[in-house]
Amino acid sequence: MVPIVEFDRVSKIFFKGNAQIHALQNVSLQVRPGELLAVVGPSGCGKSTLLNLTAGLMQPGTGEVRYDGNAVNTVNTQVAYVTQKDNLLPWRTVESNVGLPLEVGRYRDMSAAQKRERITRYITMVGLLGFENHFPAELSGGMRKRAQLARSLVYEPDTLLMDEPFGALDAQLKLTLQAELLKTWEGSGKTLIFVTHDITEAISLADRVIVMSSRPGTIRSIADIKLPRPRDVFHVRFSPEFGEYFETLWAALKEDMKNGTELH
Ligand SMILES: Nc1ncnc2c1ncn2[C@@H]1O[C@H](COP(=O)(O)OP(=O)(O)OP(=O)(O)O)[C@@H](O)[C@H]1O
Ligand SMILES: [Mg+2]
Repeated sequence: MVPIVEFDRVSKIFFKGNAQIHALQNVSLQVRPGELLAVVGPSGCGKSTLLNLTAGLMQPGTGEVRYDGNAVNTVNTQVAYVTQKDNLLPWRTVESNVGLPLEVGRYRDMSAAQKRERITRYITMVGLLGFENHFPAELSGGMRKRAQLARSLVYEPDTLLMDEPFGALDAQLKLTLQAELLKTWEGSGKTLIFVTHDITEAISLADRVIVMSSRPGTIRSIADIKLPRPRDVFHVRFSPEFGEYFETLWAALKEDMKNGTELH
């Protein structure tokens, strides 16, 4: 099996004046095609850096990042990326922002009607029907996040990177979108790498959960989540197995609290 994403002894140091920030240290990781991998870890441990490297938005200091067996040397167009920071274009409406990925590359030849159908499908899925003609400034923070999610899903990428996509949402909406995400992902064969600070969310969604250590970020442990699929995010958290996974992951994360690092 060729891993869809592979980190081979990757380190990343950022330089700021004379200061160095050692973000990732010797990270090796293989992501299997079609798996849903969740990444948890303390704030500042390099989770977003991990996704930025996978998307080819930055290059490692040492080591190599590979996608489907090839080194990632430039922007990786095989992936769609829901970034932690909202990056909707302020001068475009929701509909036009969501449709942006269909204007380039492999979707250039798709008919206008097909594009419209697909855009509407994902706008509906994230609950933004009725807001198609609104501009980002006219939306709440959570709505902007949902528009960003629709924009990434509309691309129907082979691999989706999501950086705390539901972090700012209220509990009910978070559960609803988790359920929608699983419905879309399960059986799709697509790979999903999902960064979250919420252990319950990580276990509910993932095939494997990676726990990262505080900076410099390393992989502290990896847990296989063997809960059956399709999963019901509303009820899965009440099973005894779920409680055991929670204990294990919490114990791994707590190590960093002892070091005085803020949990995020
Ligand atoms: N482009 C950059 N330039 C300089 N330093 C950076 C850059 N990106 C990240 N860093 C630094 O690298 C470290 C890891 O950052 P990163 O954003 O990957 O953390 P994170 O795990 O995503 O944190 P959070 O949970 O708070 O989002 C931090 O100390 C951050 O300040
Ligand atoms: Mg981050």
